[in-house]
Amino acid sequence: MLESLDDVAQALADQFVVDAQAAVGERGHFYVALAGGSTPRPAYKLLAREPRIDKVQWKDVFIYFGDERCVPPHDDQSNYKAANETFLTATNIPLENIHRMKGEDDPQTAAAQYAQIVRRDLGDPPRFDLILLGMGPEGHTASMFPGSVPSNDTNLVDAPFVAKFGTYRLTLTPRAINAARHVVIATAGEEKAQALAAALHGAYDPNTYPIQLIRPVDGRLTWLVDRTAAGQL
Ligand code: 6PG
Repeated sequence: MLESLDDVAQALADQFVVDAQAAVGERGHFYVALAGGSTPRPAYKLLAREPRIDKVQWKDVFIYFGDERCVPPHDDQSNYKAANETFLTATNIPLENIHRMKGEDDPQTAAAQYAQIVRRDLGDPPRFDLILLGMGPEGHTASMFPGSVPSNDTNLVDAPFVAKFGTYRLTLTPRAINAARHVVIATAGEEKAQALAAALHGAYDPNTYPIQLIRPVDGRLTWLVDRTAAGQL
């Protein structure tokens, strides 16, 4: 357990560097899916500057996204925009290595197209080196929300209608996430405490707590949690 959001950000940025160095060292590339939301942003900013920015061979890094809002890439709601502005533009990652979900397109079309890209680059199920996730206050993760979790185990990318927002979203599915070598869930804040305790200590009820769907088949799962989010554990 970590003391604060800043500690979570430091730990997340350090884990990214460690996993990137290991993957590039062992296999010559690092395939990572980024999380959206606010929690990872301080970590992304740390990756964009000294000392961490010089510790990653960015030309061998391939960027994907765990989920996306159905908005254009320049929209303030876009997870791609947030990651691009907080750290991708500061690195020398080749633009062709960055694969955003096309939130501006028809959701079903965008989901099918992204699944093809993931399948082409990483296989099916896809073997990401690292997938970063967050958790919402009611236990959602990526864009898998209570009441609209994926219905089958064959898709790699889904386009669920999220009643809470009255909009569609794009999201990697449990099949795509749980095949990863390493999944890191970073969460902080008192508003996450109830869902975290229910997800970790309560009955298995993934339709209520989609975060419970995250169970790597043979990879590692790391939780980076601050003291307030862990308050009910
Ligand atoms: C999104 C994210 C989402 C996020 C959680 C937590 O598109 O919003 O992918 O799953 O990780 O909502 O968000 P915070 O980090 O802002 O609490």
